[in-house]
Amino acid sequence: MEIRFEKSKTLKEKPDQTKLGFGKYMTDHMFVMDWDQGQGWHDARIVPLAPVELDPSCVVLHYAQETFEGLKAYRTADGKIQLFRPEMNARRMIRSNERLCMPAFPEEDFIEAITELVRIEQDWVPSEPDTSLYIRPFMFATEASLGVHMASSYKFMVICCPVGAYYETGLDPVKILVEDELVRAVKGGTGFTKCGGNYAGSILGQVKAEKMGYAQVLWLDGEERKYVEEVGTMNIMFKIGGEIYTAPIEGTVLPGVTRDSMIRLLRDWGYQVNETKLSVDDLMKAGHDGTLEEVFGTGTAAVISPVGELRYKDDVVVVNGGATGELTQKLYDTLTGIQWGRITDPYGWTRVIA
Ligand code: COI
Repeated sequence: MEIRFEKSKTLKEKPDQTKLGFGKYMTDHMFVMDWDQGQGWHDARIVPLAPVELDPSCVVLHYAQETFEGLKAYRTADGKIQLFRPEMNARRMIRSNERLCMPAFPEEDFIEAITELVRIEQDWVPSEPDTSLYIRPFMFATEASLGVHMASSYKFMVICCPVGAYYETGLDPVKILVEDELVRAVKGGTGFTKCGGNYAGSILGQVKAEKMGYAQVLWLDGEERKYVEEVGTMNIMFKIGGEIYTAPIEGTVLPGVTRDSMIRLLRDWGYQVNETKLSVDDLMKAGHDGTLEEVFGTGTAAVISPVGELRYKDDVVVVNGGATGELTQKLYDTLTGIQWGRITDPYGWTRVIA
């Protein structure tokens, strides 16, 4: 792929690396490429970050034909920069796009676009502990038309921002509310995709949870509202009686890259990992009879997020005395060790790009 580069005339001042938060400071440049029915993907460019001009009638603004991804670039102790399993994001975006009738963006071009952009923005990759450069590829329908149909033109873009912890609490446990009324996904829907619409539909649950003092929502399955599925921005795992339980990937749950990596680590350490339906009743029962040992969310943005409390209707369970569990900590240390290059990567997950 040939990428045209236009350097920004003014470069922004970098933010304080100890106060990055999540998603607040965008870097100087962005990757852009266009698709239309006649030409396919064309005009790859890295240009100064700037607003996008859209016709007010364009499809994405009305019918939400949009997908996105999230991955990170990590600064290693010796100053190199590496990506973590970017091919997983590229392939997931292709599957998301298939469901939303959007054109596939080829895996090798996806990785090249990200690699070139991060190389140009390498001074933005932070080096403070637990910081990284979050990379947000996304695609949307640009055709100006109010008809509901597959659009005839799209844009694929990548923006980046240096980030710290997703939750202000860092690795301190979060409190999660089990949502028993609203649903996130049903079989046959878009639950397995990373499309903006999934997140738009989840905000009401999030607002409700926050009003009650909870950080996020744990969604139940959309048909019976019985089985635990995933949290607002993460997959979720439960350690019960020494074994790990997490929802299966059967169309309603996001196939998370961090989820997949955790399962690999856990199995290699000899844990039984059950990718199976777990009812919220059995979960709360385990919370009360002492067999629920640890709960943690997994996601690119959040990495691993220990859960210290679960609320379902009027029933409240405190997990591991509200403290971060031993296994949660070990998973966090191992995964982040590989990502930041502190631990040798035996899986070939990391890719040095600068
Ligand atoms: C990620 O973990 O990368 C995500 O996409 C979650 C995001 C919605 C904050």
